[in-house]
Amino acid sequence: MTCIRVKWGGKMELVERKNWGQSIVGRILADDIISSSGYILLRKGVILTHWHFPILENHLIEEVLIEEKMEAPVHKQLEKIFSNKRDILESYQESLIEIKKMFHEAISREVPTLQQFMKPFSPLLHKVLKGPNIFLELRHIKGHDEYTYRHSINVGLMAATIGKILHFTHENTIKLGEIGFLHDIGKMKISLQILNKQESLSIKEFEEVKNHTIYGKQMLEDMQRADQKIIEGALLHHERLDGSGYPLKLVKEQIPFFVQILSVADTYDAISSERVYRDKFSPFEALNELIKDVYRGKLNGEIVFPFVKHILDGYIGKEVMLTDGRRGVIVQLYIEEIYRPLIKISDQFVDLRKDRQIQIKEVLLTANHLVF
Ligand SMILES: [Fe+2]
Repeated sequence: MTCIRVKWGGKMELVERKNWGQSIVGRILADDIISSSGYILLRKGVILTHWHFPILENHLIEEVLIEEKMEAPVHKQLEKIFSNKRDILESYQESLIEIKKMFHEAISREVPTLQQFMKPFSPLLHKVLKGPNIFLELRHIKGHDEYTYRHSINVGLMAATIGKILHFTHENTIKLGEIGFLHDIGKMKISLQILNKQESLSIKEFEEVKNHTIYGKQMLEDMQRADQKIIEGALLHHERLDGSGYPLKLVKEQIPFFVQILSVADTYDAISSERVYRDKFSPFEALNELIKDVYRGKLNGEIVFPFVKHILDGYIGKEVMLTDGRRGVIVQLYIEEIYRPLIKISDQFVDLRKDRQIQIKEVLLTANHLVF
């Protein structure tokens, strides 16, 4: 028996069970879901996660009513998530405006010089390297507005952060930032119709998307002062250690180590972001996917594990809501079981590795700021 009661009004969307998949994860429930015996299973306003699926399935719920997505423009969202980090906010906003201009210039007139590209990005890069872990906030951006530009900035910042974690020299860390910032410039030559397509791409369209690596190499060869590493970053960032990547199908050490770093940063930002064709992974799922790619032989564990640890450390002290309704604070996270940290509730510790019937329902970035 279907047990949902719907109230129409406002902009909502009714989604049938067969279409749930990622499409309802992270979305807001628009009305209570009531069991056949009259109990409220999930309340209106809850943000849906994968952990709600068993509840819905066990109670034979066939459809859910969710609020339609109405994301604020990216600059408004940035203002909100970086409200306590004004200097980061200003640098990020400026980078976003400038990179957009320069990426367009690169295809409509001539490719700006490396210095011109780095001028707005350098201050942001230096600020992030000096201090705050901003990646928890960045993954909170919703929607796919300005994706290619944000992705370029984020991958630059992440690649440099990985360089810092791995104790690269300052000079090489900055170089990783430049390589990351420019790695996807070739996307500017791919039509928006293909990049923004919601349905799956045809084989021909996918081949064209893959060509962004070659277009990027060509564009960067025309960029004054772009060195070989920057060019290789654009050409090789989709290569994978097991030879499954493109365009050259290189394997293992044929792929330079700095490019392997770039691939980790690129993969993490891509799966942490919402795309036109799918919603983003939850934070722990995204990290878990990176680890799976190590075991699948695609990404380098020497890079992935320290990076995952760095991101996990950012969650220590964050407030969580558990599936039994209690709220606590993350005290420790374990790389072997990312989903099951040690939680402190008042003066009590709950080890989710032992209390396996309890899970994290939501991670709260701040009191009113949901990450899941
Ligand atoms: Fe790419």
